[in-house]
Amino acid sequence: MTRGSLLVDHIGELVTNDGRDGDPLGVRRDAALLVEDGEVAWTGPARHAPAADRRIDAGGAAVLPGFVDSHAHLVFAGDRAAEFAARMAGERYTGGGIRTTVGATRAASDDDLRATVGRLRGEMLRQGTTTVEIKSGYGLNVADEARSLRIAAEFTDDTTFLGAHVVPAEYADRPDDYVSLVCGPMLAAAAPHARWIDVFCERGAFDADHARAILACGQAAGLGVRLHANQLGPGPGVRLGVELGAASVDHCTHLTDADVDALAGSETVATLLPGAEFSTRSPYPDARRLLDAGVTVALATDCNPGSSYTSSMPFCVALAVREMRMTPAEAVWAATAGGAAALRRTDVGRLTPGARADLIILDAPSHLHLAYRPGVPLIRQVLHNGVPR
Ligand code: NIG
Ligand code: FE
Repeated sequence: MTRGSLLVDHIGELVTNDGRDGDPLGVRRDAALLVEDGEVAWTGPARHAPAADRRIDAGGAAVLPGFVDSHAHLVFAGDRAAEFAARMAGERYTGGGIRTTVGATRAASDDDLRATVGRLRGEMLRQGTTTVEIKSGYGLNVADEARSLRIAAEFTDDTTFLGAHVVPAEYADRPDDYVSLVCGPMLAAAAPHARWIDVFCERGAFDADHARAILACGQAAGLGVRLHANQLGPGPGVRLGVELGAASVDHCTHLTDADVDALAGSETVATLLPGAEFSTRSPYPDARRLLDAGVTVALATDCNPGSSYTSSMPFCVALAVREMRMTPAEAVWAATAGGAAALRRTDVGRLTPGARADLIILDAPSHLHLAYRPGVPLIRQVLHNGVPR
């Protein structure tokens, strides 16, 4: 690990997310940023930049906090390209393909799973993601859920137990027994490796009673709550998440006014996953409606082999702006500070003194270019914990 101080100099536009002066992005022009011991030690005008052991010249480019991808399913084997092709030919997405991935994941070796997580984590880092949440959910038995989380924990602190992704085939006609398994031995094996618990609360997956029972067990075991909710249709998930004090409810594609009101009066973040709507050719969630109601919105990839096989936060930012009525500034905030809020973290998603020195130097003069130039590799350099990657 590199020691000593590092100055990032000649920053044309520094996105701090400090929220000062009514500008959520806290943009500073002609700025510099000092890194010490992996943290942001100072930001200010370039002309006042302190001396440092090393220096990176940003050449007038924009510098942003690294993306915080607060929703990803990276521990799996195989892919479902054929299912994607069938959807693009007119089939509907139902979540039924999850069981295909469960079969492949159970059959895979630890090393194969680890290699897949490493490959996707590498893709993410190259696209500016410096913090990622990783879920289990393709094991769906005690041993495979526990090993999924053990492997996920090699890559992130934000690991999420999603034993309640779907009811696996062997429990198809006795879902109550599966819920007991999840709350009992599976949770006991998973909890030591998990920070969060999640449930796919949706028709065809888990209903509100099952979801409430599982999330309550997770809370009792010390895990924080997050929820897949209201993805494929309206339902009770969002209000259940708010009732339980979830850090985030994710998808939020089909919301009633009561859902929006509940979110607006809560600390729960609405995490939108436009890669899923893109890959399932579904209507996008209405971010504008949530933002106008005062809800905190995050953006994440939902990277998984079924509904959203993208690891790219810039792609999600571009979709959110074009398809979900977010401004570029709102989308960049949601992909950085919003993701941090969804993970209840204050050490990432901002570039202010004391924050982790996780940052992106763009090949562009402004954050606007992330949506303005979709599909273009604009991530020139990434610093993770202050270390150039
Ligand atoms: O977030 N909705 C449930 N889980 C994933 C999809 C997983 C899959 O299709 O394999 C999601 O979209
Ligand atoms: Fe998901």
